[in-house]
Amino acid sequence: MTVLSPRPDLWTLDPGVLHLNHGSYGAVPRRTQEVMAALRVEMDANPMVWFRSVADRLTTSRLALASYLQVDPAGFVLVPNASAGVTVALATLPIPAGSKIVLTDHAYGAVRYAAERYAKAHGAEVDIVGVPLEADDATVVSLIADRLDGAAMLIVDQITSGTAKIFPIEALVPAAHARGVPVVVDGAHAPALIDAPASASADFWTGNFHKWPAAPRATAGLVVAEQWRTASMPLIVSWSEYDERLPERFDMQGTYDYVPWIAAPESLRVLSDLDWPARRPQLTALVEEGARLLAKALGTGIAEVGQAPATMRLVELPSSVDLSGGEALKARVSRELKAEITLTGFEDRGFVRLSAHAYNSLADFEKLSAGLPRVLA
Ligand SMILES: Cc1ncc(COP(=O)(O)O)c(C=O)c1O
Repeated sequence: MTVLSPRPDLWTLDPGVLHLNHGSYGAVPRRTQEVMAALRVEMDANPMVWFRSVADRLTTSRLALASYLQVDPAGFVLVPNASAGVTVALATLPIPAGSKIVLTDHAYGAVRYAAERYAKAHGAEVDIVGVPLEADDATVVSLIADRLDGAAMLIVDQITSGTAKIFPIEALVPAAHARGVPVVVDGAHAPALIDAPASASADFWTGNFHKWPAAPRATAGLVVAEQWRTASMPLIVSWSEYDERLPERFDMQGTYDYVPWIAAPESLRVLSDLDWPARRPQLTALVEEGARLLAKALGTGIAEVGQAPATMRLVELPSSVDLSGGEALKARVSRELKAEITLTGFEDRGFVRLSAHAYNSLADFEKLSAGLPRVLA
């Protein structure tokens, strides 16, 4: 096996900072930034000509992104982020009064808020299923399936955010459908971490290109099952309101910066040039080694999460660390250690969620492990 070298040279990240949280906002490679810059020059040389060209450019980009996910392009639309993808699903699926929207206690906070808004508007409720961190796939399916009676929909993560745990989507979707419940898959972290991540049978699947595929921010996709394609509408009402073609209906939503969507395929080419299928398992081994170092330095362990995803690991925080001031603590780590990490909590436990991307090396994790215990003390 060829060991692939870290390639921080392909990014423009500040070399004086430890960047160990790709999972939150991604990081855009230099080449994609250059494509975006050139597109912006073109846009501002003649905005009229630019906006006349946008529809065709979006079609090209959308087809490339759909092909990357290996989904039917007729059901693939562009959205700015996974939050928007989930919101479109909530706005489309019927929510009868007295029904419930089922989520788990691993759901992303903003997604839970979206479910709460739509439940309230329809006289429905949100039902949160507790899933233990360590739960195996069979336990996850049985805990969720048991709560689906009377549900308008199930919204479930493919890779959870705060707990970096894989949920068994391919088993959950049929279990929900057997009870007549549509499924919305929040695959925010899935593109580039799971191959062909958009479950063929889910009613809606959404995922971010601006996380692991390192695309420009505000680039995400929503895959809509055939039966919901006529009813699905973009969140912004614009000239496409009466366009009967599904993907095109979501393409142009008023005067907007379409450069990230048009430039996004360049990041897929960067990933391909980085030999991503071979690199990803090596990054997983790197983050695991990094997590071991950090856990040793903190006197804790790597959290047992059932099925862990590629390239992210959770390291347990010492119980003495108070996460109630989590944002302030992250800012202190950023200031004092020049390290970007994220701290998460589940039940009464706290974690550092570590990420590894192509620009990371073991030295990053060694430096973090050498310094973090002092900052957390
Ligand atoms: C599971 C999950 N869902 C939704 C989101 C929201 O993504 P965005 O901010 O791109 O809408 C995230 C972001 O980290 C996430 O991890």
